[in-house]
Amino acid sequence: MCGIIGITGHAAAVDGVVAGLRRLEYRGYDSAGVVTTDPEGLRVVKRAGKLDNLAGALDGQPLSASTALGHTRWATHGEPSDRNAHPHLDPSGRVAIVHNGIIENYQTLKAELGDVRFASDTDSEVVAHLIAEQLTASSTAATAADGTPDLLAAVRAVVARLEGAYALCVVAADDPETLVVAKHEAPLIVAQAEGVGYCASDVAALIEHTNEVAALLDGQFARITPQGIEVVDVDGVPATPHAYTVDWDLAAAEKQGYDHFMLKEIHEQPQAVADTLLDRLNAPAPGLPPRLQLDELRIDEGEFSRIDKVFILACGTSLHAGMVGKLAIEHWAGIPVDVEVASEFRYRDPIVDPHTLVIAISQSGETIDTIAGAAHARNQRAPVIALTNVVGSTLAREADGGLYTHAGPEVAVASTKAFTTQIVGCLLLGLYFGQARGRVYSSEVADILERFDRVPDALREVLELDGQLRELAQRYHDVDYTMFIGRHAGLPIAMEGALKLKEISYLHAEAFPAGEMKHGPIALIEPGSLVVALAPAGHVFGKMVSNIQEVRARGASVLAIGTAGSTAALTEHADDVLTLPEPPHELAGPILSVVPLQLFSYHVATLRGEDVDQPRNLAKTVTVE
Ligand code: G6P
Repeated sequence: MCGIIGITGHAAAVDGVVAGLRRLEYRGYDSAGVVTTDPEGLRVVKRAGKLDNLAGALDGQPLSASTALGHTRWATHGEPSDRNAHPHLDPSGRVAIVHNGIIENYQTLKAELGDVRFASDTDSEVVAHLIAEQLTASSTAATAADGTPDLLAAVRAVVARLEGAYALCVVAADDPETLVVAKHEAPLIVAQAEGVGYCASDVAALIEHTNEVAALLDGQFARITPQGIEVVDVDGVPATPHAYTVDWDLAAAEKQGYDHFMLKEIHEQPQAVADTLLDRLNAPAPGLPPRLQLDELRIDEGEFSRIDKVFILACGTSLHAGMVGKLAIEHWAGIPVDVEVASEFRYRDPIVDPHTLVIAISQSGETIDTIAGAAHARNQRAPVIALTNVVGSTLAREADGGLYTHAGPEVAVASTKAFTTQIVGCLLLGLYFGQARGRVYSSEVADILERFDRVPDALREVLELDGQLRELAQRYHDVDYTMFIGRHAGLPIAMEGALKLKEISYLHAEAFPAGEMKHGPIALIEPGSLVVALAPAGHVFGKMVSNIQEVRARGASVLAIGTAGSTAALTEHADDVLTLPEPPHELAGPILSVVPLQLFSYHVATLRGEDVDQPRNLAKTVTVE
């Protein structure tokens, strides 16, 4: 939530900041703003609404400076408006800040400042006031050895008083070439390239400048100047951030001719799945049978024999991937698995001990609910595995072990390729645990992996249904209510289908286990309702057909998603039937069956004229609770 970028030492810093904000806009798009520094003072331009509003304002009021700081906002405190847009200044205009997170004690801090007028309703503005106060008080620690005000020391002193989560970036008029940043429970990376210093919320904003970055750890601060970056801890002692190399480039973060990022990312799925499956089967030593190896896991195979329970923690789309993970782990490893909404986990009393394995799934690796849930489990000495798409993300760093999906950058708010690769990650983990616990023989593992290798081609076949899905969207884009139903591996996909549709088209959509419908939800069905039924061939197909008949009898139109082996039987029960190839393994079925639902939602949303990549009220990376 909220994107930050700062640049110092670049002749076109403002242009660089606006370009960086474009790549961060998926983090929030309620307003955007920029501040520049020079010895004459700070200059701020900010506008409510999307970044284009700010860009337009800058066209009419160009700013030129070598140091600039920008922000794109997802509103928490204070409505989206010009005055609540960041950056925020102190009353004297000496200090400007941008903030991602929530300052929980902002009201107390405001009260401590006494009779001061605030220019916004945000929780963030108070930080600018406090830093300016620090710089002004001559006897504070906020003074360098030569007696000049020390912005880094002032920020450290103020941050010690903050409660909540923050990635903060601060500039001051009297130190115009310096950016000072602080990080606690919200992501912040820093980088230096060719005499230019950078900070940003994530690498997408910096990838056109460098792929060598460093993620600050909680409690770290950095002073960024064109000459270099100094990182310290809360006591001012030099500290080391997490440095890493980004393994994708600018082209991967661009639309490449597609109308929307979401469409591009849907079409990238065959490659993303193939990349996530790549090179997983290896002989441990010459002459030995090949085994599934997950090198990044960093948890010894032997440890899995001690695990007697698994929790999967995730939010949103990642949660639905976790539901497939449960099926895979229980099937291959025979360990009971609970899938938990991460935001609920630490506020109850989950039974977690060192024999519990926690798998935290997060595309971004920065979702605060998932990070906090994983930390809660670690405090109880449970090993935590992070399944993430972002190397160097907070979750990846804090977990005991990990598995990366190789989806490349996902920009659209509605997650697609991250989801299918998360399912691949879950299948690999389930198979690996089964292998480690001696429940799946090496030959079976090799056979299953060989079948998974056929998934990318099957995905390409599914993508060819796009034309049919556009027609279906034409027919159904005005329905009042859509219910998605499924059983077994179809249920997580029903849930994901409903989420996709509501996220980007704002249509009312819900998902239910098909067998549960008769206990209440079927009362919602009336003529004009649409039911999307996941009905692949398999052991629950007969039951799905009965459930389809039940909703049809009550006047719903039925769109059935079947497979080659099931569609002949479906045609007499459904208004529309889509035929997917038979998946090479039943548990890989969800990877295929979600794709038509992604495309259906995409076409419905575009037909309704909605902003597919930036749906209202949402943000891609949710760093507040
Ligand atoms: C937001 C996004 C969803 C995403 C969820 C979890 O709500 O809009 O697309 O599934 O966060 O994100 P994560 O990065 O943890 O997978």
